[in-house]
Amino acid sequence: MTKPIQAIRGMNDLLPDAAQRWRRIEQQVIGVLGAYGYREIRLPIVEQTELYRRSIGEVTDIVEKEMYSFADRNGDNLTLRPEGTAGCVRAGIENGLLYNQIQRLWYCGPMFRHERPQKGRYRQFHQVGVEAFGMSGPEIDAELVLMTARLWRALGLTDIALEINTLGTPHSRAGYRTRLVDYFESHQAAFDDDSRRRLTTNPLRILDSKNPALSGLIAAAPSLLDHIDDESRAHFERLKTLLDGAGLRYRVNPRLVRGLDYYTRTVFEWVSSQLGAQATVCAGGRYDGLVEQLGGKPTPAAGFAIGLERLVEICGLSQATSPTDAPVQVYVTMLGERAEREGLALAEALRDRGLAVLCNSDGGALKNQLKRADRSGATFAVLLGEDECQNGLASVKNLRADEAQQQLSQAALGAYLRRRLGLDPA
Ligand code: HAM
Repeated sequence: MTKPIQAIRGMNDLLPDAAQRWRRIEQQVIGVLGAYGYREIRLPIVEQTELYRRSIGEVTDIVEKEMYSFADRNGDNLTLRPEGTAGCVRAGIENGLLYNQIQRLWYCGPMFRHERPQKGRYRQFHQVGVEAFGMSGPEIDAELVLMTARLWRALGLTDIALEINTLGTPHSRAGYRTRLVDYFESHQAAFDDDSRRRLTTNPLRILDSKNPALSGLIAAAPSLLDHIDDESRAHFERLKTLLDGAGLRYRVNPRLVRGLDYYTRTVFEWVSSQLGAQATVCAGGRYDGLVEQLGGKPTPAAGFAIGLERLVEICGLSQATSPTDAPVQVYVTMLGERAEREGLALAEALRDRGLAVLCNSDGGALKNQLKRADRSGATFAVLLGEDECQNGLASVKNLRADEAQQQLSQAALGAYLRRRLGLDPA
């Protein structure tokens, strides 16, 4: 027998029950974003590799070792998007959405990173991303955070905590970087290979290391908060005041540095204690320099992305959303060639009335058809046989309650079922 082809490691199928759960959660997310005036933008999944080099940064894990990049048939260097911010900025510049304008945008879809797969970390994963352009004040940083907090409430999530930090401006960060390198260089003996490499390429990322052998060293490292410029500090203080005013709890984590280079000032992460090692459900921050860096006019911007695999996981754990429900309301059984033909038309007419209808296929004895009807989750079965067709009638059987089978005219069927299903008043 031929060996079946399997999915690529770290890329998962979403089977119908799961897909239904996902859709419901996505719709809740999108509903909250809409309530804050955010509008959808749809972006390509493939972009020029150069876009990510210039935005995420040459010496980040993503660009150095995680991108799915390839040359297409023209020899152009392309990459499957590892995240959405860069593409959104590219589209905003290209379509004239950003200059001197305020934009509140969201997108949703698959992202690709060649990471080592484990629970909560995949090679194809999904994000809902949000980007706000044209606003430099901390109010928009606060809005983004408050919006996510509202979303967790809507989903019934409580076990999720906010961490915030400020990275200052690139200039103030450069001064801090020098201090940090001096500090780490005098303690290099304890370093692992990764940290040694980062010391020259991206020393701030050492603060993010999960290596327990380095935790003492990192805890005693100079703090970025002591080195940032006054304006960034004032921005951060104002953000904290706004969050306090809204009654939102947070923890300032001076070691929160993020894995993408474009951030300036505010960064934040929402972390769940239910997810094990891959605990960050939502992450983002301000990136005031990126639009200009990618060839646009200077434009302040901030945003975040939610990892949907992780969000769906914690929604399941907290039982915040009910398990899948059966969308099918009516199952049409059909006995005989005429009933099969007319049954399809009848089902169409019922769908025209807004009902979710499943038609029997591949024949079978009535008993078998009714078994399938039961398994489908439908509330009512419509029974069509030669006799019914002859007289323009249909029989209706309640599959969920013990009641006498009804026979009524096909013309009256839609109204009857709608009433019985509680869709129209009795
Ligand atoms: P990020 O921190 O790289 O930020 O990703 C955001 C979220 O996507 C993470 O917190 C996590 O929930 C999810 N995620 C990332 N990688 C994986 C993976 N391999 N498997 C499963 N989930 C994953 C960004 O992508 C930025 N573009 C966010 C942003 C938008 N900043 C400003 N605007």
